[in-house]
Amino acid sequence: MASTPQTATVSHVYPLGSRLNERGRLEVGGCDMIELAADFGTPAYVYAEDDMRSRARGYREAFRGRTERFEIVYASKAFACTAVCRLMAEEGLSCDIASGGELHLALAGGFPPERIYMHGNNKSEADLRMAIEQGVGHIVVDSFDEIDRLERLAAGRGQRVMLRVTPGISPTTHSSIQTGQEDSKFGFGLAEVPRALERCGEAGLELRGLHAHIGSQVFELEAYERLAEVLAGMGDWPLLNLGGGLGIAYTRDDEPPTVEDYAEALLRRAPEGATVLCEPGRSLVGNAGVTIYRIGTVKHIPNVRTYVSVDGGMSDNLRPMLYGARYEAEIADRFGGEVLCTVAGMHCESGDILVRDVFLADPRPGDVLVVPATGAYGHAMANNYNSVPRPPVVFCKDGDARLVVRREIYEDLTARDVQ
Ligand code: LLP
Repeated sequence: MASTPQTATVSHVYPLGSRLNERGRLEVGGCDMIELAADFGTPAYVYAEDDMRSRARGYREAFRGRTERFEIVYASKAFACTAVCRLMAEEGLSCDIASGGELHLALAGGFPPERIYMHGNNKSEADLRMAIEQGVGHIVVDSFDEIDRLERLAAGRGQRVMLRVTPGISPTTHSSIQTGQEDSKFGFGLAEVPRALERCGEAGLELRGLHAHIGSQVFELEAYERLAEVLAGMGDWPLLNLGGGLGIAYTRDDEPPTVEDYAEALLRRAPEGATVLCEPGRSLVGNAGVTIYRIGTVKHIPNVRTYVSVDGGMSDNLRPMLYGARYEAEIADRFGGEVLCTVAGMHCESGDILVRDVFLADPRPGDVLVVPATGAYGHAMANNYNSVPRPPVVFCKDGDARLVVRREIYEDLTARDVQ
């Protein structure tokens, strides 16, 4: 990433409204990150509430400006907790869930069950039963085995479903997060769709439309145009769900498409009569969140590298290790800098590197380090490696910081142990 030292500016990857205050400290949602680190401890996931609300509104406005028939569905896998579900429900979004656990959170956050869509290539019988009993609006059917299962579980209930299609479209993104190609564990390949439609009818399911999701962190809008075209060619359906996946900026060099252009691409080829759904996750919450850490050690290896180690790592952000994902980093009260560093986590693996090659301002033990654009798939994929308690989530707005998920404590680590 950073090939030249950065100037002291808050780049567009930080939450909307972030700034350096009079004391030169980063403020997110009006809250001073040095004070927040002292009050809530580190590491911590910090979100600007207004950023998420404004992106949710941005999606709705982009579609409303082009069609009356649309629905924005929050992909809760990107960041699931009661508070964010409540926020997205308040903003009038629907919710995509992919497990009984996500359903539990969506309901706790107040999503009306009829505005929930359940996904998954292997939903358990318990998950399906829970969805049916709770009145989940649509189950997105993924396989012939699942149609059989639903025939049994939802007999006579007229459960509404959509059919997940694998459209044979592969956008440019990391192979682990491509999902639209024919060789996929998800959905029905194009050749199988007619038989799947027939089976849904026989099983007494109320089929309302088609769904496809081609991948995640996608910058190529042409792929969405092609997707709309492929699905539009598969009959007239009340609902057409084109999935999520719009990419975001992780570093200042990334220039993702705007939501306006994305909406335009989805709608250009979509049939007139259908309600078009999309399922953004990352692009609603990714840039809204930063992670704050405290630096514990600085190890300078002459002519090799300077390791700056923080009090978190692959337990709170798996993305660098899983996808080689790149991030920025700054010292929260000394933006800009000239010391080329590698930010390492505290786990027992050499691969536990959060940010490789980033310029920092004379990092020292005790400094608060901030990594931006961690709002999606950070908390969501956090784990307890090395029995490290998972960090809290703090929502900031107009200078007020609100704890919405508490930090785990050691007792949480033993809570499930029997004896
Ligand atoms: N809809 C479906 C059916 C999905 O499977 C996903 C993401 C989304 C919507 C939301 O996609 P988004 O707008 O967030 O790109 N852990 C990976 C991302 C995995 C995405 C899985 N499915 C990462 O950290 O990049």
